[in-house]
Amino acid sequence: MLSRSSSSPRWTGFFLVFLSLCSLFVPAVSVKHENFKTCAQSGFCKRNRQFADDVTSSSAWTSPYNIDPATISFSKGQLNAVVLKTVKDGEDKVRLPLTVTFLESGTARVTLDEEKRQKGDIQLRGDSKVRKERYNEASQWALVGGLEVSEGAALSEKAEDGFTKVFYGEGGKHQALIRHSPFSIDFQRDGETQVKFNDRGLLNLEHWRAKKEKPVEEKKEGEEENKEEKKEEEAEKGEDESTWWDETFGGNTDTKPRGPEAVALDISFPGYEHVFGIPEHATSLSLKTTRGGEGNYNEPYRLYNADVFEYEMDSPMTLYGAIPLMQAHRKGSTVGVFWLNAAETWVDVTKSKTSANPLSLGTKSRTDTETHWISESGLLDVFVFLGPTPQDLNRQYGELTGFTQLPQSFAIAYHQCRWNYVSDDDVKDVDRKFDKFNIPYDVIWLDIEYTHEKKYFTWDPLTFINPTKMGKQLEKSIRKLVVIIDPHIKNTDSYPVIDELKKKDLAVKNKEGNQYEGWCWPGSSMWIDCFNPAAITWWKTLFKYDSFKGTLSNTFIWNDMNEPSVFNGPETTMPKDNVHFGGWEHRDVHNINGMTFHNATYQALLERKKGEVRRPFALTRSFYSGSQRVGAMWTGDNLAEWSHLEASLPMVLNQGISGFPFAGADVGGFFGNPSKELLTRWYQAGIYYPFFRGHAHIDTRRREPYIAGSPYTEIMTQALRLRYQLLPAWYTAFHEAATTGAPIIRPNYWVHPEDEAGFAIDDQLYIGSTGLLAKPVTKEGADSVSVYLADSQPYYDYFDFTTYQGAGHHHTVPAPLEKIPLLMQGGHVIPRRDRPRRSSGLMKFDPFTLVVVLDSAGNANGTLYLDDGETFEYEQGAFIHRRFSFSAKHASLTSTNLGGRATTKTDKYLKTMANVRVEKVIVVGAPSAWQHKTSVTVMEEGAKESARRKQVDFEFFPADGKKAAWAVVRDPRVAIGKGWKIDFSDKSGGGDHGHQH
Ligand code: NOJ
Repeated sequence: MLSRSSSSPRWTGFFLVFLSLCSLFVPAVSVKHENFKTCAQSGFCKRNRQFADDVTSSSAWTSPYNIDPATISFSKGQLNAVVLKTVKDGEDKVRLPLTVTFLESGTARVTLDEEKRQKGDIQLRGDSKVRKERYNEASQWALVGGLEVSEGAALSEKAEDGFTKVFYGEGGKHQALIRHSPFSIDFQRDGETQVKFNDRGLLNLEHWRAKKEKPVEEKKEGEEENKEEKKEEEAEKGEDESTWWDETFGGNTDTKPRGPEAVALDISFPGYEHVFGIPEHATSLSLKTTRGGEGNYNEPYRLYNADVFEYEMDSPMTLYGAIPLMQAHRKGSTVGVFWLNAAETWVDVTKSKTSANPLSLGTKSRTDTETHWISESGLLDVFVFLGPTPQDLNRQYGELTGFTQLPQSFAIAYHQCRWNYVSDDDVKDVDRKFDKFNIPYDVIWLDIEYTHEKKYFTWDPLTFINPTKMGKQLEKSIRKLVVIIDPHIKNTDSYPVIDELKKKDLAVKNKEGNQYEGWCWPGSSMWIDCFNPAAITWWKTLFKYDSFKGTLSNTFIWNDMNEPSVFNGPETTMPKDNVHFGGWEHRDVHNINGMTFHNATYQALLERKKGEVRRPFALTRSFYSGSQRVGAMWTGDNLAEWSHLEASLPMVLNQGISGFPFAGADVGGFFGNPSKELLTRWYQAGIYYPFFRGHAHIDTRRREPYIAGSPYTEIMTQALRLRYQLLPAWYTAFHEAATTGAPIIRPNYWVHPEDEAGFAIDDQLYIGSTGLLAKPVTKEGADSVSVYLADSQPYYDYFDFTTYQGAGHHHTVPAPLEKIPLLMQGGHVIPRRDRPRRSSGLMKFDPFTLVVVLDSAGNANGTLYLDDGETFEYEQGAFIHRRFSFSAKHASLTSTNLGGRATTKTDKYLKTMANVRVEKVIVVGAPSAWQHKTSVTVMEEGAKESARRKQVDFEFFPADGKKAAWAVVRDPRVAIGKGWKIDFSDKSGGGDHGHQH
């Protein structure tokens, strides 16, 4: 198997030569479908989809779930009741405790549990010792806030019979209309229904029942008929038990000590044509439907974190991570749901269109989106967000699960990775080559081959002889090293890490209660169970500098294979009946597993040395809601093909609107060898990934940007420089993400939520709030791109100020290989640093350039956020946060403070930045009235009297055809951390400045 080969370092030399020959003939690769389940192969999915089909085809269907009105109570923002499930064969009704909690934020939370299991009143099958409750701890891992209960939520007196109505949210604008029989909920905003639960009657909570052992019948004549009869009988009962008690797939049998226990619900979004979210899938941003039909899928979107290597494009197949957040969008409204469940989950999406009624004027055609959520186990626990804007939705979700970590500034620069840099000399050589070719980079990465025989926390003694020296060379140009640490621990002799893991009993267990042993890179391995607090405590000790020798303060960590990937496990992961800390089955916690490991690593990095507190950097492959708090993710093992470059954009955009924006794809494509053109285009696109890393499989040829040669190397260098030039804008966008939940790169609908024609656009992006609009080239041989402009502002080419204007149209922008299509929307001020450097660390005290891009009214606004890029002192005020505003009315550009009240930390930080100035102001779309101006007046707060008001050179460049007029103020010498004003008015400059007072 391509991805599973890993060479012994001693052979690497030969191997590389051999490979460079072989790789000329790399075969086309594609995912092994047979390794992964379809819905029909996943018992609970099949059952629930079948149930949906039965319900949909029956006209007489009513959902068997009813609230017992006598049980309803409401206090302190929470409604409690019992839902009774009527069971077909006349058993007692199953009691399902319901809570509907109304949160201060205007969000509602619905949980449904099973009373018998809450009480532990069930029998487990076999000798199982697992917990009897439905898994109810997902919230402890995913949620960090936002749970304050609404004081104002109140029951309505006026509810109709058979309904309970609750007003909640700001000014009571939100309402939950709870129908008792059958149970359903409509969530309304301003009297209009936005989200419906159980409208289609697909609620299905598989309750616990004892297995009725059937007597084994002796084989008689006519057995075939008997079997058929039995099948018919079962079909009549509507219950197909074949996947209730155990299930076999790919030779692995999953025993189910609790029997069937799925939870499923239909959630509808009336009037919403688009739904987004539920990463991770290689699909379009606006989700396709999943019940067949042209261009649509036949399978539901699956969320079951897995090592799906060589994954395919345009598919609802599961990938490495899961965020069960979906948002529905229409003109004027964004709403969403967060399905807090960590078990295997499938989501069907369908749409229905109601045509306009020609007889009644004013009724428009309308599309509704219906979804069907199916999880294998756990509570039903769903949050409903009522927006109404995409910004509100991301904030509401972020308040619950946390905003993205504000990373160290190096982490948003360029990362150079491959499997593998083969020795410390190799690393030092690559480092020198980047310098030789004047290509900026910040971080070099080591994949698994740096270890001694795949034992993490060790170095291969023959190839990584002096890691400290290597780290120190990197430090000279303020560069960093990232090393990989995976969750599987080699099960071998004389390896203290496995000895401790076993002795302390910190590994995941198998169903018999023994430490589970499986197969991964090192061969036989065990998996640290980070659900166990003691495991996290131990994990922290392994990263201390005096424990993991050879690591320095510029070493950071890459967590891979944490789905977890188990080569000999079912669907390349862990058996579902494995057991974690607390007695929970792996089935219950699977999608959270990767996050717990990533989280443990984050915590370990915080505590490497007493007194040294730095923001950790840890990359993860597997993720869940909440992972954004502790690091970055990448989209795993893509291919060096144009289609994968193209798919990376909707995937990374989707991460952004799903609350985990620090995301990127392997630049160049992991498997295979990209052509020089593809590699170049990938760099030109990769500069827009919030997480920007080049990476390649061990069987590929070297492809560091200096290798391709002229003109590719120069073009890639130019792209990298553009990323570095705009780092201040990127860092500001990260800060916004870290404080508001906004995506870092933004799709069209998010920026223009009213522009229906742009809702499905997912191949162009805005960078933060900068107004920078990029449309990467993703087609071979292209020499132009077509950019969609949603609004009527002028958009200017970033490099030559060619103007594009016209709302609702596509505009052709030239894009020969050496040209990166990037536009600036009128109305923004973009901060950048123009001096080319070898690493971002070397730019720390560089001066700024401000690009003022005027809108059609001649105004512009922008912000800059800046801090030490390293410590947590920003939390105590050590930062600069400025607003730059250009006002047409006053013809001036001002810098004002957004930072709030200064602290001693602020003062200290400002002192370190006192000499960092603005060295240039460029005004794009400059008014022609400025054409004779030769200077402007600059005023700075706190400057000495003599310097308070100074004249500074100004130059005007008239419009030239489609190229807009622009102007430049050279070296206004104002401090980036101070308040100042540049006066462009007639009174200022052009020889008449003497009249000013
Ligand atoms: C799988 C990861 O996805 C890939 O990036 C890495 O190079 C290999 N594991 C080897 O560690």
